[in-house]
Amino acid sequence: MAEMKRTKQVVETYLPRIIEDRNIPGKLGEAIGYALAGNGKRLRPFLFLQAFKMYSPEEEKVLPFACGIEAIHTYSLVHDDLPLMDNDDFRRGRLTTHRVYGEANALLVGDALLTLAFELMNSVGENFPPEKVQRAIKEVVKASGPEGMVGGQYLDLKGEGRKINLCELEKIHRKKTGALITASILSGGILGNAPEEDLEALEIYGQDLGLLFQITDDLLDVVGDPEKTGKEGQKDASLGKATYPGLLGLDGAKEKAEEKRQAANISAAKLGDKGKIFIELSDFVFSRDR
Ligand code: IPE
Ligand code: IPE
Ligand code: MG
Ligand code: MG
Ligand code: MG
Repeated sequence: MAEMKRTKQVVETYLPRIIEDRNIPGKLGEAIGYALAGNGKRLRPFLFLQAFKMYSPEEEKVLPFACGIEAIHTYSLVHDDLPLMDNDDFRRGRLTTHRVYGEANALLVGDALLTLAFELMNSVGENFPPEKVQRAIKEVVKASGPEGMVGGQYLDLKGEGRKINLCELEKIHRKKTGALITASILSGGILGNAPEEDLEALEIYGQDLGLLFQITDDLLDVVGDPEKTGKEGQKDASLGKATYPGLLGLDGAKEKAEEKRQAANISAAKLGDKGKIFIELSDFVFSRDR
């Protein structure tokens, strides 16, 4: 997707600025920069910016907000890779942050990214009505915290080695991955000043896309090419993780992915012509190889 490539460049040009000209001690700044760099897809800022631009053209005004969301996502990856969570050595085609800077520093990198994210999201305040900024931040905060991503990560760890049914598995995936993806789209729509009925369609779209994204992540762990995913592969089964291929088999997981792709596209279609990019996106996520 050409537009995704363009956004990736815009976001990756902005990201290093997050830590520039700050009084960050020792190697901490370098470690934060390391975590943010690498070949990330920048999907969440893309979603945020697309939803925003459906209603408001000026992307530059919200770039710090988009990068705040990417900072939260990056923190979640740094912590997710730690030995006491998924214990991964590779991420985005390079060594994980804790493998380069040590575990304690990686923990602090995550803390730093999460706190910087609030500053970034709040910094767009002067360009928008305060109630819009407040509502957009609230969505991201709720999605990132114990009711959303953090809660999902808790359930993911708790589920290791246990028999989990489809309903429980869907709940884990909706929380650990779906919530932030949904909030990225929704907050973009909110700041863009989308009408309430569009916000509803965007939210439901985000929920289906988020689930689709984690189902394909599970599939890529089994059948993906590490050269492309930038991750080791075959890790979920070895950790006894609850996954879609683990529960339903490869074909069953692909069927579920197809189900979610279609559901997402029904919501995107409700947005009319301006929702076309989201249809393109769910098709892209369905067949992604990285
Ligand atoms: C990986 O996210 C973790 C999940 C929530 C599945 P991404 O696949 O978006 O990772 P990057 O940012 O592109 O590296
Ligand atoms: C991670 O899910 C979800 C997060 C909130 C980071 P995974 O543990 O499956 O993500 P990967 O496969 O390590 O990227
Ligand atoms: Mg994990
Ligand atoms: Mg992991
Ligand atoms: Mg995974």
